[in-house]
Amino acid sequence: MVDLSTTIGSLSLANPVMPASGTFSDELAQVIDLDRIGACVIKTITREFRAGNPTPRVAETGGGMLNSIGIPSKGLGDFLDRIVPVYRRIQAPLIASVSANTTADFAALCRDVSVDGVEAIEVNISCPNLEADGHAFAMRPDLTEEVITEIRKATTLPIWAKLTPNTGDIAGVARAAEAGGADAVVVANTILGMSIDLTTFRPSLGSGMGGFSGPAVKPILLRMAYQCSRAVSIPVIGCGGISTASDALEYIVAGCSAIQVGTATFVHPTAMITVLEGLEAFCRERGLARLMDIRGAVGAVGETAGDLPAQPVPAEAV
Ligand SMILES: Cc1cc2nc3c(=O)[nH]c(=O)nc-3n(C[C@H](O)[C@H](O)[C@H](O)COP(=O)(O)O)c2cc1C
Repeated sequence: MVDLSTTIGSLSLANPVMPASGTFSDELAQVIDLDRIGACVIKTITREFRAGNPTPRVAETGGGMLNSIGIPSKGLGDFLDRIVPVYRRIQAPLIASVSANTTADFAALCRDVSVDGVEAIEVNISCPNLEADGHAFAMRPDLTEEVITEIRKATTLPIWAKLTPNTGDIAGVARAAEAGGADAVVVANTILGMSIDLTTFRPSLGSGMGGFSGPAVKPILLRMAYQCSRAVSIPVIGCGGISTASDALEYIVAGCSAIQVGTATFVHPTAMITVLEGLEAFCRERGLARLMDIRGAVGAVGETAGDLPAQPVPAEAV
């Protein structure tokens, strides 16, 4: 019997496989047994109703997809009245995902989603901060530390800070999240991108630009997850381009305590179970009693990997 369990701060999970926010809903229960996954991370909610971005909202690109969904949300009331009761019937812990445009609103929303049945809050700080010219909170360490500090005061639930790769200093941002009191960092959200429709000469997405995700982002986000795991002592949850157990294992060996499967679920709705079964098979084949024994094992491979800087490489060095 292989031990796939993991811990994210005070939260114990049966296994490290969970969905990436926005790529999952309880309707997936029609295809997979939700009790088998490590946790249920739901689509980001905002306090108020939000319609989302103009269409088209998704576009396929080589090796992945672009989206500009824009966080449509039915609001806090729907979360408390409908979503939380649905997940009470599911064994895997419910992880809320929230977004707001000011520090005070973020903290207040985290306070209000801290109800019985919610086991942790993933704070999607990849969204624009209206008090900082619309820069995403997680683009800057100072904004990150400020918002996480205020959220920490507002809730006793574990806080997972979901970082954006659209920053020059992801390790610095992860350190700021830790300093503010985050229990984990999720690395990471989508990479800003665009594509152009050559029949219309217009951007493929209604909002022009959007978030790039899927297999092509894995080397970039794996590198960031690795840098973060070296920079902080809180758990790192890897996310980006994971569709197989091998992808997940790379993140774990890089130092991640858990992983999230996103775009892959759109391609194969059973992707999370495929990853989970692959992790178990890997451990069995290698005679590994506990999956988390190989977490961070890349650190042991020698000077080359060990020398990789947590800070961004200066432009003149590349
Ligand atoms: C259609 C779509 C919707 C998403 N919505 C959210 C969201 O609401 N909140 C969030 O934090 N991330 C959201 N994401 C980002 C994913 O959670 C994940 O960070 C990203 O897609 C990278 O993982 P992947 O390559 O496995 O998809 C969304 C991604 C996609 C493709």
